[in-house]
Amino acid sequence: MMGPWNALLYIAVPACLLKVSLQGEPQRRLYKDLMANYNPLERPVFNDTHSLTVNFSFSLMQIMDVDEKNQVLTTNIWLQLYWNDYYLQWNQSEYPGVANVRFPDSQIWKPDILLYNSADERFDATFHTNVLVNSSGSCSYLPPGIFKSTCYIDVRWFPFDLQRCDLKFGSWTYGGWSLDLQMIEADITGYIPNGEWDLVEVPGRRNERFYDCCKEPYPDVTFTVVMRRRTLYYGLNLLIPCVLISTLALLVFLLPADSGEKISLGITVLLSLTVFMLLVAEIMPATSDSVPLIAQYFATTMVIVGLSVIATVLVLQYHHHDPDGSKMPKWTRVILLNWCAWFLRMKRPGEDRVRLACHNKHPRGSLISMDLNASASAPHSTNGNMLYIGLESMHYATAATSPDSGVLCGRLVCGGGEDEVLLPTRPTSSAGSLEPDLAKILDEVRYIAKRFRDQDEDELVCNEWKFAASVIDRLCLMAFSLFTILCTIGILMSAPNFVEAISKDFFT
Ligand SMILES: *[C@@H]1O[C@H](CO)[C@@H](O)[C@H](O)[C@H]1NC(C)=O
Ligand SMILES: *[C@@H]1O[C@H](CO)[C@@H](O)[C@H](O)[C@H]1NC(C)=O
Ligand SMILES: *[C@@H]1O[C@H](CO)[C@@H](O)[C@H](O)[C@H]1NC(C)=O
Ligand SMILES: *[C@@H]1O[C@H](CO)[C@@H](O)[C@H](O)[C@H]1NC(C)=O
Repeated sequence: MMGPWNALLYIAVPACLLKVSLQGEPQRRLYKDLMANYNPLERPVFNDTHSLTVNFSFSLMQIMDVDEKNQVLTTNIWLQLYWNDYYLQWNQSEYPGVANVRFPDSQIWKPDILLYNSADERFDATFHTNVLVNSSGSCSYLPPGIFKSTCYIDVRWFPFDLQRCDLKFGSWTYGGWSLDLQMIEADITGYIPNGEWDLVEVPGRRNERFYDCCKEPYPDVTFTVVMRRRTLYYGLNLLIPCVLISTLALLVFLLPADSGEKISLGITVLLSLTVFMLLVAEIMPATSDSVPLIAQYFATTMVIVGLSVIATVLVLQYHHHDPDGSKMPKWTRVILLNWCAWFLRMKRPGEDRVRLACHNKHPRGSLISMDLNASASAPHSTNGNMLYIGLESMHYATAATSPDSGVLCGRLVCGGGEDEVLLPTRPTSSAGSLEPDLAKILDEVRYIAKRFRDQDEDELVCNEWKFAASVIDRLCLMAFSLFTILCTIGILMSAPNFVEAISKDFFT
């Protein structure tokens, strides 16, 4: 009867010794025990008909880049996956001091969660870290990654836009019956602010999709990164220059036509707008879905500037109108010179001076009669010269009162004053021998007077056209100012979050 007992004793003692000898390295023992029958291909559930719940979340660390042109969002994200592995549980008191163990991701089963809308070259952009497992078999896998995701970036309201970029995560091969993906709210406590974008919120939702192949639902978790563009940069670099340039375009109408710079100013403004528009076009995607707000604004401003160049050509055409050409059509005269001038409270530049010239008539008349008297007593050869000098001096006198033109202008508007002065001088010179000379002189004088009168008539026509040009100029200034202000306010303020953007970015 002793044999079996002895045998038992002989077996039990070495077993005890073995156990004691392994006590020192529970971790090694644990790895060995856990991996003994483990197959990383096997879905770790107690019953294969059960589904495995995977809790999924992510921490958004940083928005690194929003590429409007290629419609790619680059983010720094740490994924968070939690699941329970049925085969990785142990009794903690059997392995003292080992609270948790780490496995390289290839050694144990892990869910194949991928970013569906990835735009990365390798598709899966995560860095495969270790999986942390504790004694109850709960696994945490937190792979970080720089994710590039496709995102429809709607630039309709650029630069006052709000973008929503979806990040859709899901298991690539497991359906909902074998892998039940559950969402935990996104974590943005570690978020590092971006200079260009303000993070508004990161809502998430769980969707179930059914494909044609099977009745099984395919769950996915979609997080939406909602971000608002900070406007200060584009405001300073694009909007303010554009507003200033379009204001400069208005100066075209203030510039005097005689300076000869009107057109070149208009064209310069147009060119500089084009440069800014190219800058915008470089950032924007080449899409025709929607015209960006800023492009609309630039296009409108360019149309305004283009129209102002056309209007300037018209103004210059009026200003430099050929006096021998046609007279001003009646209706143009009525509309421009009467109605518009009255509406714009503009006075003809001649009006004041005409009165002034008429007041100065008497001294000038006496000058001429004095000259004539002098010529009557002077030697023949100098007659014409003296008279000429007399008229010439008068010319200077008038020219001094009309600073705006080199031509005689507005002097004779007060009527044939010279004739009235000149004609009575004829009978006073009664010397018979001088009669033919005097007649000659008179002819000359008449001729000169006629020339002056013709010139003045031309000048009058000229002035009328010039005045019409300045009326058009003023009218355009008014109209284009109004148009520019309306466009600026109307277009920029039509952005849904214009007020919010301005108040947050410019006044904080
Ligand atoms: C697994 O679950 C199914 C249904 O829930 C049940 O019929 C089956 O007996 C289970 N198998 C085991 C080994 O528990
Ligand atoms: C998943 O999250 C739910 C609710 O937060 C929790 O009850 C459950 O234990 C979690 N499961 C795992 C595997 O972490
Ligand atoms: C863990 O091991 C200890 C000692 O071996 C034992 O007393 C306890 O019942 C075990 N616990 C479980 C849950 O198996
Ligand atoms: C293991 O981790 C899970 C989740 O992190 C926790 O709920 C559980 O209490 C942990 N188990 C032990 C034994 O620490």
